[in-house]
Amino acid sequence: AHGPVIEKQSWSFAGPFGRFDKGQLQRGYKVYKEVCSSCHSMKLAAFRTLADEGGPGFTADQAKALAATVKVPDGPNDAGDMFERPGRPSDRFPSPFPNEQAARSAMNGALPPDLSLMGKARAVHRGFPWFVFDAFLQYQENGPDYVYNLLTGYEDAPHGITCADGLQYNKAFLASTCIAMPPPLSDGQVTYDDGTPGTLQTYARDVSAFLMWAAEPKLEQRKQTGLKVMLFLVVFAGLLYFSKRKLWSTVP
Ligand code: HEM
Repeated sequence: AHGPVIEKQSWSFAGPFGRFDKGQLQRGYKVYKEVCSSCHSMKLAAFRTLADEGGPGFTADQAKALAATVKVPDGPNDAGDMFERPGRPSDRFPSPFPNEQAARSAMNGALPPDLSLMGKARAVHRGFPWFVFDAFLQYQENGPDYVYNLLTGYEDAPHGITCADGLQYNKAFLASTCIAMPPPLSDGQVTYDDGTPGTLQTYARDVSAFLMWAAEPKLEQRKQTGLKVMLFLVVFAGLLYFSKRKLWSTVP
């Protein structure tokens, strides 16, 4: 039997000059919000970060409005009651379930994992020895590659494989051959406002990019700093070299 099939994708945020595509992140948020968030939380991501530099580029007011679309458990109030209030920018993307037991009982015993760090999932695309080269080259887009392949990886089970009731065959799933997540996306499910065609592939790409940003919100800043550091090092190395030549030129 062969292992999971995970194909590399090309991403705007790959490489030393990589940048997030703001439109893509905004669409990805919409997919997360309208589809994934009905099962998955993102407890490390706060609504206010939607307006941060290097992110989807929502305004602070938009981020506030998006926060207000969720209900957050709070309390106790003066009467000692727990209650729900509209979300605030400081709130994190909540779980739709009150606790793990509730999630499992709604999902046939499976637990939808928190998606905050899924953008960093360590999928290995290639076996030995090639994955050593990938690691050496700092290939970092394993997470979004995996999420994309997973979301588009549902197929009829090949001959000889049967999935138990409530499980689906997925050719990219790392943990097993059958996954407890029903295929979440299909063509036309989410309406994009910017004219991007709403297909399974575009949804999967956009939400994967969004999860990359959520897991690495400072990716752009870090890459920019890295470029400046490299430029500095090149200039500095040149200076050192010529200084050395000058200083030692008098030594016979
Ligand atoms: C697992 C992403 C929508 C239920 C997962 C995993 C990812 C993911 C990355 C982890 C796979 C792994 O462990 O390797 C997404 C995205 C969604 C989405 C991006 C939206 C496009 C949903 C929805 C449901 C759901 C709507 C519920 C109906 C689950 C469950 C698991 C899971 C139960 C655990 C599967 C298992 O361990 O067999 N999802 N998901 N997901 N998801 Fe989703």
